[in-house]
Amino acid sequence: MTDKSAQFGVVGYPIGHSWSPFIHGLFAKQTGHQFTYRLFEYPPDDFRSKVLAFFARGGNGLNVTVPHKRAAAEIANELTPRAERAGSVNTLARQEDRILGDNTDGGGLVRDLRDNLGLTVTHKTLLIIGAGGATRGILGPLLALDPAEIVIANRNIEKANGMAAAFCDLGPVRASALADLSGEHYDYVINATSAGLSGEVPEINPGVCNADTICYDLSYSRTDTPFIRWAKDRGCINTHQGWGMLVEQAAESYWLWHGVRPETLPVLAALAGQTRDRSIA
Ligand code: ATR
Repeated sequence: MTDKSAQFGVVGYPIGHSWSPFIHGLFAKQTGHQFTYRLFEYPPDDFRSKVLAFFARGGNGLNVTVPHKRAAAEIANELTPRAERAGSVNTLARQEDRILGDNTDGGGLVRDLRDNLGLTVTHKTLLIIGAGGATRGILGPLLALDPAEIVIANRNIEKANGMAAAFCDLGPVRASALADLSGEHYDYVINATSAGLSGEVPEINPGVCNADTICYDLSYSRTDTPFIRWAKDRGCINTHQGWGMLVEQAAESYWLWHGVRPETLPVLAALAGQTRDRSIA
């Protein structure tokens, strides 16, 4: 299917760093689709009016990133169950005269863990650092995999408590203050904080990981992120940045928009070439 006039894009603030045009461009080559995919940098005050104008002009779909994911949930006329549960939207799709909001972040993480990295979450213990939008997006899909337990640790315990309460009907999830983590180690430690954006690492009790712990950073960078450096310094050998999640969430958006699921591994390999970081392939 080819529709050269179809309009897609990614909206954020800032947005210049986004890899989404590169990723969707490679998907399009693979599937033979033609469309435009642009970067839209809208400050929070303009987000609603500009996004509504995009769709009113005939725009077909948008990816949504920081800091707009909650606002995007307000714009959608309808939410998928996973977006509703997450309270945030990373994909908007025009469906006739309505705008559908979905959240493909958690599904993208699960596909990366399971399909790309060959890892299992079922009956494992998971520690998620952070209780913001990123955690909200991944909790539902992770709990659906039937883990032994998920602990959400945050500096601000109230936010972690609220998050655990919002998801405890889906599975075993509890909250902890970051500072109260004991030396107990987990099968997974997932960094879902925004600390890396300012070059910081959350203050995590080093006892939470041993050599076999899988350390996954939802953030990604051309070189090791501060959390990945922290994990490697503690002897963890299973460390992963969020490149795979990035490509997988994009593929889920692509499927929603175009009805085709592209191959993700060639795109991950191309990204690795672009970033010259072999660890992401
Ligand atoms: P968003 O919703 O966009 O993810 P957020 O709600 O501000 O943004 O969430 C950011 C998360 O990163 C929060 O869990 C925050 O912890 P607090 O709620 O205690 O502020 C966490 N975070 C950011 N910088 C951090 C740091 N240096 N150490 C530990 N946690 C940090």
